[in-house]
Amino acid sequence: MLKTLKDFNFQGKRVFVRCDFNVPIGEGKVLDDFKIQKTLQTIRHLRDSGAKIILSSHLGWPQEIKQKKERLKRYSLRPVKERLERLLGEKIRFSKDVLGSKPKKEIKKLKPGQILLLENLRFEKGEEKNDENFARELAKLADVYVGEAFGVFHRRHASVVTLPKLLPHFAGFSLKEEIEALARVKENPEKPLVVIIGGIKISSKIEVIEEFLGKADHLLFGGKIANVILRVKGICIGRPWPAEDVVQKISKMSLTDPKFHLPVDVIVSPDETGEIYTRQTGPGNIRKEESIFDIGPETIRNFINIIKEGKTIVWSGALGMAENENFRRGTEEVARAITRNHQAFSLVGGGDTVSLVKKFDLRDKFSHVSTGGSAMLAFLAGELLPGIEALK
Ligand code: 3PG
Repeated sequence: MLKTLKDFNFQGKRVFVRCDFNVPIGEGKVLDDFKIQKTLQTIRHLRDSGAKIILSSHLGWPQEIKQKKERLKRYSLRPVKERLERLLGEKIRFSKDVLGSKPKKEIKKLKPGQILLLENLRFEKGEEKNDENFARELAKLADVYVGEAFGVFHRRHASVVTLPKLLPHFAGFSLKEEIEALARVKENPEKPLVVIIGGIKISSKIEVIEEFLGKADHLLFGGKIANVILRVKGICIGRPWPAEDVVQKISKMSLTDPKFHLPVDVIVSPDETGEIYTRQTGPGNIRKEESIFDIGPETIRNFINIIKEGKTIVWSGALGMAENENFRRGTEEVARAITRNHQAFSLVGGGDTVSLVKKFDLRDKFSHVSTGGSAMLAFLAGELLPGIEALK
């Protein structure tokens, strides 16, 4: 059982809220605030309860960028601070350091009901490494922990799994809502269950495919994950070759299972702008200088026919490089087909997918829009999410 915010008196307490503010940012502005909006109920409840609120989140994978200046600029949570201020209608404090004297000073200044946002947790190496000392330092900042970051609760990171064990802990409203909506699909999905997997985050999705094979009636693949499976099957020769651990995992899968639906035709191009040329071809017919950027029309038709029959439809991940309109058709047509199926309970999740659905003006046509992509799939596949387990 998870303890919820209604189970505690937060008056005067320093409350560390682990949020998922991993949102798309462009030119210093938040491009889609869906995940931020989802935390507002929790923030307002804590504010009205007189808590001293410490908000925290990850954003992207800053450790992949070697140059410190570039890393800090690209992955700062400052744009999130500005959007939060606009949404809450009040000024909030910001600490550009996660640890050390700065956040401590800022927290000391907080009056009951006031809010501080900490800089990106992943600026500290200890977060991804699940470093116990890092978690202990974070624990010193607060009296209570609130878990509100469903989207990252499949990761064993310090603020997700170790920190909550060091403090009294509670589940935020949005986390609770996610668990309730997803449990409905996990425990008793109306059949046929159609699962559509795309996107660029391959490793965490690969983990759940085997588990879905036992549950779903159809597994539809697009995006990078489909390209990688096709490559490992030896069907397509486009570039680049996937990482060895991914190849190993895919090689172990029952790829001939009739539940597996891979692209039978694809849109390829020598570059990601699609401006030199694009062409439609079979996945076995790709030239060495080309890459796959979308599913082709026959694949779209196949997928739509399966989607039409679904009673439960789960979708995470774009089916092509949908941020470029040259390669958006597969994703958009599949999104529209899901929302045309009024008999189905439809679930969509994942930051980029949810932003695309907004772009297509379809967000309120899905039965539930999840703040998690890989986390949603892992939960539905039956995995115990470490972040949820830590709150029990
Ligand atoms: C997401 O956007 O899916 C979550 O914030 C998790 O992000 P991550 O894959 O960078 O951990």
